[in-house]
Amino acid sequence: MLAKYRYHLSASVYQIVIHRVLLVDVPQHMVACNVGASLYEPINVYKPVGPNIGIVDGPFEYLTVAGIKLPLPFTTRMTVVRLSNGDLFLHSPIKFDERLAKELQKLGAVRHLVSPNQFHYAHIGEWAKAFPETISWASSRVRQRARARHADVHFTRDLDASAPEEWRGEIDQTLFPGGYFKEFIFFHKNSKTLVLTDTIINIELDKVSEPWRTATKLAGMYHPYGQIFFGMLPLLLQRAKAGAAIGKIHSWQPQRILLSHGRCFDADADEVIRRIFGEPPH
Ligand SMILES: [Fe+2]
Repeated sequence: MLAKYRYHLSASVYQIVIHRVLLVDVPQHMVACNVGASLYEPINVYKPVGPNIGIVDGPFEYLTVAGIKLPLPFTTRMTVVRLSNGDLFLHSPIKFDERLAKELQKLGAVRHLVSPNQFHYAHIGEWAKAFPETISWASSRVRQRARARHADVHFTRDLDASAPEEWRGEIDQTLFPGGYFKEFIFFHKNSKTLVLTDTIINIELDKVSEPWRTATKLAGMYHPYGQIFFGMLPLLLQRAKAGAAIGKIHSWQPQRILLSHGRCFDADADEVIRRIFGEPPH
C-alpha cells in the first residue's frame, strides 16, 4: 500500500525563493501557468504512507510580488494524521478542495489545522471556513505575518514546544530553533514518521526547470542529497541551541521523513538524519 504512490515531491527552489528570500506569501487563487515544473500526480488525493497517516499533494501555487503573478510555479503537500478519537490533524493544509474535503471526512473529523512555521498558513482560513469546528494552530510570528498580508485566517491556539493534550499520545513535537526560520516539527509515534515542513529541502531536479535546476544543484539541496535549509545552517553551527531538538529527533528513531517540498525519505531515515544533523549530542 505504501509503495503505491511515489510520495516524493516536487518542491522547489521556488519555494525557497518565495518563502525564504523574497519573503512573500502564496496567493490563494492562482490560474495554472506551468513553466516546466511538474506536479506530484495525482493531486488532491489522500495517499496513505502508514497506518493512520498519509499525504496529499496539492496543485501549483504561484509567486506573486506586489500583486503581480510571476510564472514561478511550485508544489506543496500536506500531511494528514488520523487520531484515535477520529479527529484529523492537517499539517500545512494545501489549497481547499471540495472533493478532497469529502474524502477526508470519510477518514475522520477535520479538527486540527496546523501552521508549522510562519511561511505555511495560506490555506488554513479556507479549511476553517468549510469546517467551523476546527482549531487553527499558530506557529511563531504567523499571526503578524498573516495580518500584514491581510490573510483571512483566525488562529485559535498556539503551538508550543510540547505537544498539546489533543494529540500528545500519538504525535510528539518540538520547536526546531532556526531563528527567523524556526519551525515546529512533529513525530507520529505509531508509524515512526517525522513530519517536516521546510527544515530539510530535497528537490528532485527533473521536477524543476531552469534556471532553478542549476540554482538548486549549486545549493546542494537536491535528491538524494537533501540538506537542511541553508537559512538554518548558521544555527546548526551553534550546536548548543539546536542540540535539544536534534537530540529529540534522534531519540524518536524515525523510519520515514515527510517533507512539505521535495521528495520524501521513505527508507533509511536514520542515515539521512545522521548525515544532515550529525550524531546525537551527548
Ligand atoms: Fe515552504
